[in-house]
Amino acid sequence: MESTVTHRAPIDERKAFSAIDIGTTKIVALTGYRNERGEIEVLGCGSVTSNGVTRGNVVNIELVVQSIKTAVEKAHAEAGFFCKKVIVGVAGQHIRSAHNRNAVNRDKPSQAITQKEIDNLKAENRHVNLDIDEEIIDVIPQSYLINSQHVTNTPVGMAAHRVEGNYHVVIGKTEALKNIRTAITRIGLELQSFMLEPLASAKSVTTPEERELGCAVIDIGGGTTDIAIYHDNTVKFTEVIPFGGNVITYDIQEAFKMLFNEAETMKITHAHCIQDAAPNDIITIPGVNGRAPREYTMKTLAGITQCRMEEIIDAASYVIETSGYKNHLGAGIIVTGGGSELKDLPQLLSFKMRNETKIGKPLHAVRYPHQPRTFNSPKYATAVGLLMRAAEVHNYSASEPIAAPEQEIITATKETVEEKTKSVMKSFGIKGFLKGIIGNKNYDEEYAKQDTRILVE
Ligand SMILES: Nc1ncnc2c1ncn2[C@@H]1O[C@H](COP(=O)(O)OP(=O)(O)OP(=O)(O)O)[C@@H](O)[C@H]1O
Ligand SMILES: [Mg+2]
Repeated sequence: MESTVTHRAPIDERKAFSAIDIGTTKIVALTGYRNERGEIEVLGCGSVTSNGVTRGNVVNIELVVQSIKTAVEKAHAEAGFFCKKVIVGVAGQHIRSAHNRNAVNRDKPSQAITQKEIDNLKAENRHVNLDIDEEIIDVIPQSYLINSQHVTNTPVGMAAHRVEGNYHVVIGKTEALKNIRTAITRIGLELQSFMLEPLASAKSVTTPEERELGCAVIDIGGGTTDIAIYHDNTVKFTEVIPFGGNVITYDIQEAFKMLFNEAETMKITHAHCIQDAAPNDIITIPGVNGRAPREYTMKTLAGITQCRMEEIIDAASYVIETSGYKNHLGAGIIVTGGGSELKDLPQLLSFKMRNETKIGKPLHAVRYPHQPRTFNSPKYATAVGLLMRAAEVHNYSASEPIAAPEQEIITATKETVEEKTKSVMKSFGIKGFLKGIIGNKNYDEEYAKQDTRILVE
């Protein structure tokens, strides 16, 4: 990797902010600050193999603590420090969303609405119905009703006799969140807030124009496929599908009877996801312990890859269809996450979804003078989006004026995330599908195993 800048003036640590993406295959710790041009500059990046995470959920705290610690140490070594307060990404099956409204009649209608009033309105809105084992992760303003008119930007500065806020509330299971909190506090960090991972990815790879025209961001990670749909510059829909690129590796492992790491290398090096477009070149797999090498064609490999990638695309298509925004995606599909690097994926997606597709890379969302090309990889979309949120929160706590985070304003969700995910699973019968691939083995057990496997970076 190219490395350019090594000298910079020391940064005042109070100006810095940090974020951690706890992914199924990798954990990324970032620390950064806003430079004199107003850009977010990454000072330190630590990316390590993730252990103890299954489909986006922390399942082994000890292993996760070790992985986060190593990532943080790397970022610390590069930056010279790592901020204690961190924004952490959250995804997984335990998340659901709800809608809520809150209104206030103002004593002095002729006076401009202040940020404090908007903050209070949002804070009071936290009283939503929760199950005993649930808690609120995030409250995202969708729109405001000011003098009977809907506004999607911040109403600060407007005059009104009544302000009504319309909120999207993200709710998670306390137990799952507790595991993340425990892991973060064990290494001496302080959790500032959680952020829903689909929103983080979308934040770093979309432009305001794309969000205005309408787009669906699909982040294909190792263990989950996250979806966020935008239109009119507001988030309309989010979803986390509980399978991602690792299932393809698992299929390759099963088909060619090889180790997971070998299958992973084979996928990254040779796999295409359109069989007709794959060359007929021979791939040789060395024999183990004196056994004869085996040979396969890249077309055979592509057949396996295409089959499973189509399954992921079908699930994503179904989610987009149920969102009701399928015909409002003027800027098409933006695919990101490590899984989006599979050869020919944009073509397959465009063909199957009948929509233009581009790969979303967070390269231009931040500056990283140490390794300028690092964020050209879509696998960093979530981490960069989290750092962007950390920058907003930091600005805010430093009392600097900030615009409302427009890409997080939501206007409609028909069902809860949990209900929708269940319906996707029901519709696509992933267990049945896996059973077909795995044969007569206990597919529940295999399915549980598959995403905890470790990749070689
Ligand atoms: N060049 C490549 N070609 C094909 N697949 C790739 C490539 N690079 C990475 N992947 C796949 O991307 C997936 C990992 O993506 P990513 O790093 O975004 O996941 P993650 O954030 O760790 O997991 P998750 O978001 O699901 O919790 C793995 O399945 C990996 O095999
Ligand atoms: Mg991820």
